[in-house]
Amino acid sequence: MAQMWIEILEQPEILKRSLENNSKNINFIVKSLKEKNINHVIIAARGTSHHAGIYAKYLMEIKLGIPVSIAAPSVTTLYNKPLNYDGALFIGISQSGRAQDVLEVLKAAKTQGAPTIAITNFDDSPLAKEAEFHLNCSAGEEKSVAATKTFTTQMHLLAWLVAEWAGDEEFKKELSSVPGILKKIIDDSDYIEQLVKRYRFMTECFILGRGVNYSIVLEAALKIQETTYIRARAYSISEFHHGPFAMIEQNMPVLVFAPEGPTLESAIEMINKLKDAGADVLVVSNNQDTQKLGHCYIPLPDGMSDFISPFANAVISQIFACKLSVLRGINPDAPRGLNKVTITR
Ligand code: AGP
Repeated sequence: MAQMWIEILEQPEILKRSLENNSKNINFIVKSLKEKNINHVIIAARGTSHHAGIYAKYLMEIKLGIPVSIAAPSVTTLYNKPLNYDGALFIGISQSGRAQDVLEVLKAAKTQGAPTIAITNFDDSPLAKEAEFHLNCSAGEEKSVAATKTFTTQMHLLAWLVAEWAGDEEFKKELSSVPGILKKIIDDSDYIEQLVKRYRFMTECFILGRGVNYSIVLEAALKIQETTYIRARAYSISEFHHGPFAMIEQNMPVLVFAPEGPTLESAIEMINKLKDAGADVLVVSNNQDTQKLGHCYIPLPDGMSDFISPFANAVISQIFACKLSVLRGINPDAPRGLNKVTITR
């Protein structure tokens, strides 16, 4: 059995544990942040961790009204340009805690007095030790090169931080329901295993979504790229209209995340436009009318908000990638040319 699959299955339990281990610390961090006049947030991360950061950007902007930017580490590491971090909170995300560029940007922010939070899976990692505050994913060692459980725990901890900071009890309740939602998806995963057979010989595809699920569009493409070698490309639905749409040709596979909520209408518009252009559309949705628009669909469990849907979509994407990888005779745990820890500067 693939290690990636084992780690996908662990997620419902690990998310619960991660929250138990970090909730007091999150309360403490939020108290400290509230004493400071934080007027923007800067997040630095790479790969899958970067995608967790994008999820956090949407949450913080929507729920806290604080602008969030995703750092361009080369400004610090290669151009050596000091930035003004006045009023900023800096968050560095790295499952290994060894991302050199993230560490250097965090040090630069800290030098200027910005509060710094690290989210890693190792208390003794360089990033965890350097940051003022540390949230430990508590995911246990992740052996598969393809990150799964560290991604969903990063998202969960970031979302809980936002819920606490915003005093949003309803959101906390929703976040507490995530492990159960993930368990349901895993229990029903035979459906996805059957469906991937349809994509066995696919060589390229597009993955589209919007809003909080833009993070998952990027993550789904990365997961498919590294485990199946398929040229999967990710776009925001709004961006796809502005040029990339011209690449659509007859039978081109396109996966569209279309959860109920503020982005649904825009997703439906894109699905219809893709069908008119001859694309083969796979819809991931909890809206029954929207599911029927696709050539095929993956149902999302009922009763979850737009803010929670990225967790479900993330695990669906992981299952899709892992099952397709195995079907294509590839070992998803050891993608060619990659290591578990990648150091860039
Ligand atoms: C994840 O599936 C990838 N293998 C990779 O993008 C990874 O997320 C990236 O190298 C970041 O690593 P870090 O979180 O340990 O910094």
